[in-house]
Amino acid sequence: MSSVQSDLGFDAPLILQPLSLDWLARSGVEVAVLRLDLLDPELSGNKWFKLVKHLDAARSVAAPGLISLGGPHSNHLHALAAAGRRLGLPTVGLLRGHEQVTPTVADLRAWGMQLHWLGYAGYRERNLPTFWTPWRARYPGFYCIPEGGGGLPGALGCAGLVPRVESALASLGWKDYDALWLAAGTGTTLAGLVIGEAGRHRVFGALAGPPSHAVDAGVANLLAQAGVASSGYELLDASRSGFGRFDRELAQFILDTERQGGVPLDPIYTAKAMMALRLYVERGYFPAGTRLIFVHTGGLQGRRAAQGQLQKLIDG
Ligand SMILES: Cc1ncc(COP(=O)(O)O)c(C=O)c1O
Repeated sequence: MSSVQSDLGFDAPLILQPLSLDWLARSGVEVAVLRLDLLDPELSGNKWFKLVKHLDAARSVAAPGLISLGGPHSNHLHALAAAGRRLGLPTVGLLRGHEQVTPTVADLRAWGMQLHWLGYAGYRERNLPTFWTPWRARYPGFYCIPEGGGGLPGALGCAGLVPRVESALASLGWKDYDALWLAAGTGTTLAGLVIGEAGRHRVFGALAGPPSHAVDAGVANLLAQAGVASSGYELLDASRSGFGRFDRELAQFILDTERQGGVPLDPIYTAKAMMALRLYVERGYFPAGTRLIFVHTGGLQGRRAAQGQLQKLIDG
């Protein structure tokens, strides 16, 4: 059976872009951005890697469709709807809250995803053991993907990024790097990178939400399932005023990074991760000569809905 990865054309070399910014130049720390956001306009960022093993599993049981859940700006549902359309598999999205139209929801509809709005209380039940029962009855045989494409298959898909980063290093003229730096939500992507690194390089996860025991425990649990030591990584607080909250400094930072460094960032994950990196660099955490890879986990489709608010913050 052919792999979903090659069927969708995701075997192409990954792009590592050297980042040129004043705060990096002052510190002597070198950063290259792994531009997963450029992978594909619809299946962007870490989403593809989190989905690939789930899609392989769905195909191996000949599932007639895919079902998953997320919010009205969900990068995960967006990628899932795009993947389902390309693979010819129907998709179902269970959405948090009450019906609304966002740029993400408009795409989900245009790509044929069947949507169900669960309200807030209904969505909170997603971790109950009985949650999936009515949906399995309504969509028999559909493959259920956990929120955000998480779980061990999600992490193992991301582990596959590490050898591909190593193959792309030559394009930078680098023989090696010191650490990976990325945004973390559930920590699934970070866990995958720790699995893929197998202790070779440190992995820093900049938390988009306030630090909670749940993320730590989730990462430790994924590493235990993969039979990998729970070490070699660090989770740090990058949430600023809270998950999904924006402020003027963040909006200005996004603008400056794009103008000066040529890298667009999303306000929820990647911009906060890059701001946290600036703090570490400016505080001298990394000695001059350190080489870091910043994993751009995508999320730019979600920025569309935030653009007005970001502009207002900049205009004051
Ligand atoms: C753009 C973006 N970056 C980072 C993350 C965090 O990924 P994870 O939940 O695997 O930590 C997400 C959420 O999945 C995301 O949409």
